[in-house]
Amino acid sequence: MSEDALRRLLVELAASLFGRGFSVGSAGNISVRLDDGYLITPTNSSLGRLDPARLARLDRDFVHLDGDKPSKEVFMHRAFYTARPAAGAVVHLHSTMATAVACLPDVDAANPIPPLTPYFVMRVGRRMPVVPYYRPGDAAMEPAIHAAARDARAVLLANHGPVVSGASLIDAVCAAEELEEAAKLFLLLRGQSPRLLTPAQTEDLLATFG
Ligand code: 13P
Repeated sequence: MSEDALRRLLVELAASLFGRGFSVGSAGNISVRLDDGYLITPTNSSLGRLDPARLARLDRDFVHLDGDKPSKEVFMHRAFYTARPAAGAVVHLHSTMATAVACLPDVDAANPIPPLTPYFVMRVGRRMPVVPYYRPGDAAMEPAIHAAARDARAVLLANHGPVVSGASLIDAVCAAEELEEAAKLFLLLRGQSPRLLTPAQTEDLLATFG
């Protein structure tokens, strides 16, 4: 896909997320890998009102080349791209249900949301660890996210929100949406004993759908 097409698609997907309440105010940021660098949403921008021409463009070393000032969460995105060479896009949201799970002290930090549905497993994978709290924009989060992302397509930042990667922009956005739905189901079912997918069912999904 050309850079122009990626710019337009990023803006369209961001507006769709914003329009459906996955992001409010100026929360959230999205990046996509180019042949020679990255595009990332500008800092303090609303996902509902992005301008394709003003997205920040970074070189391969994540140095700002042009466009508006990049998101202060560049470190978070860089952690994913360096840990996961196949990642083509990264989406960070403060979506309500996933962030609620990220605020619970008594969940399994290695994998807080169990395999409740096939699409959660297919889009997000086997595990999604919780990374300890860092102030938004704190570069110190990078090693912690990098270590977690080597083994996971998505992480939950404690008391902050999800960060999700995908092979493409559409994959990353779909995964972020499935994660939010799975978090909602997890919260709805808390205190009950839902039937989970078995390890064999989970492995079958990953073997069939990647
Ligand atoms: P930016 O506006 O710098 O992208 O930060 C928004 C955000 O979601 C912080 O976590």
